[in-house]
Amino acid sequence: MDTEEIKFSQEIETGLPIIDTSHKMYIERLNNFLATCKEGIDIDQINLYLDYFQSYSIEHFESEEYLMRWKNYPAYKEHKKCHEYFCNKLETMTKEIRTSDGFSNDNIRELRQFIYEWYVDHFQKHDLKLAEYIRSLPKDQ
Ligand SMILES: [Fe+2]
Ligand SMILES: [Fe+2]
Repeated sequence: MDTEEIKFSQEIETGLPIIDTSHKMYIERLNNFLATCKEGIDIDQINLYLDYFQSYSIEHFESEEYLMRWKNYPAYKEHKKCHEYFCNKLETMTKEIRTSDGFSNDNIRELRQFIYEWYVDHFQKHDLKLAEYIRSLPKDQ
C-alpha cells in the first residue's frame, strides 16, 4: 500500500481551537515528512525532519493529553498509551536507521509506512473518539 497525503477533515474537528490548530499543524508537518521520505534519500534532510517531527509529535501528544485530563476523558489512559507506543517505536526506528548502515530505501520506506499507518489508524480509532466526546459535552464544561 502506498502512502498518501493525510487531510484534516471535519470528522476529527473538536471545535476547540487549541486541539484543532494543533492537529492541522501536526498534519502539515507529517505530510512534509512523508513527502521528504518519498522524494528519495537525502540523508541530511531526512535527519533534520526526523528530529523536528519527533519533537513536534511529543508536543502535539502532550497538548492532546492535557485536554483529555482537563475534560476528564474516560479513555485517557488507553489513548496516552498509544501515544507512548508511537514515540517509543519512532525512537527505536530512528536509532536503528542512524546507527546501522542505515539510510537505505527499505528502512526509510518502512519508517514512512509505519508513521502513515499508525497515524491514520490512530486518527480513526482514538482522536475521532476524543473529538466526539468533546463535542458531546455541554459548552461550559
Ligand atoms: Fe491522539
Ligand atoms: Fe492527535
